[in-house]
Amino acid sequence: MARTQDVERFERWSATYDRSPAQRLFFTRVHRALCDALLGGDVPPARVADIGCGTGRLLATLRERMPSTELIGLDPAPGMIAAARRRFAQQPSILLEVASASALPLADQTLDAATTTMSFHHWDDQQAGLREAARVLRPQGRLLIADMFAMGLVGRLSAAVVGRRHGRGFRTDAEMGELLNRAGFTSWRRVRMLGRASPICIVEARRGPG
Ligand SMILES: C[S@@+](CC[C@H](N)C(=O)[O-])C[C@H]1O[C@@H](n2cnc3c(N)ncnc32)[C@H](O)[C@@H]1O
Repeated sequence: MARTQDVERFERWSATYDRSPAQRLFFTRVHRALCDALLGGDVPPARVADIGCGTGRLLATLRERMPSTELIGLDPAPGMIAAARRRFAQQPSILLEVASASALPLADQTLDAATTTMSFHHWDDQQAGLREAARVLRPQGRLLIADMFAMGLVGRLSAAVVGRRHGRGFRTDAEMGELLNRAGFTSWRRVRMLGRASPICIVEARRGPG
């Protein structure tokens, strides 16, 4: 698998990633919000994959709050997966693999939910990643994407200034709708996180019944 510039950056960062202040101050809140959204579904998910899982911090939150859910973590940066394996050394039931969103090592229709936090804007091929998520989800399965979006003043400014240095950058609602529909998601909604002015949101999409 060829590594993109973004993945190379995370590979170099992987050894110290968990020590960054942003992890403690900001990512923890994102992980909690995502977990709340996941638990807010009709049925607690039995099998969940976190795409772009990094060092596995969301997985650790999910493990705490959903002890019987089967968890899978995937990330294209081998250093991130190595760090996640160290984190879960005592919990070998969590499957961790080096993989990009564009080629998920999972069989068709085998997940109840897929999650991804602050990773989607780094994906080099977001359309392929969303198609893969739709492929591996069971009918009516849910995809939850926590990320920054190009909406509101802060979001549009961030998309213009910072977004270009991050993989595909931050998406507008119109772009998200098109990407999700083309991938096979039949409905979706976006919910703001971290306050009304914040462009950090959770997009929750549901795969079609077929
Ligand atoms: C900002 S980190 C977030 C990590 C983790 N989700 C978290 O919340 O702490 C972004 C992650 O996305 C991963 N990533 C980059 N490109 C990707 C792709 N094409 N498919 C899946 N993950 C990707 C990176 O390797 C990195 O671990």
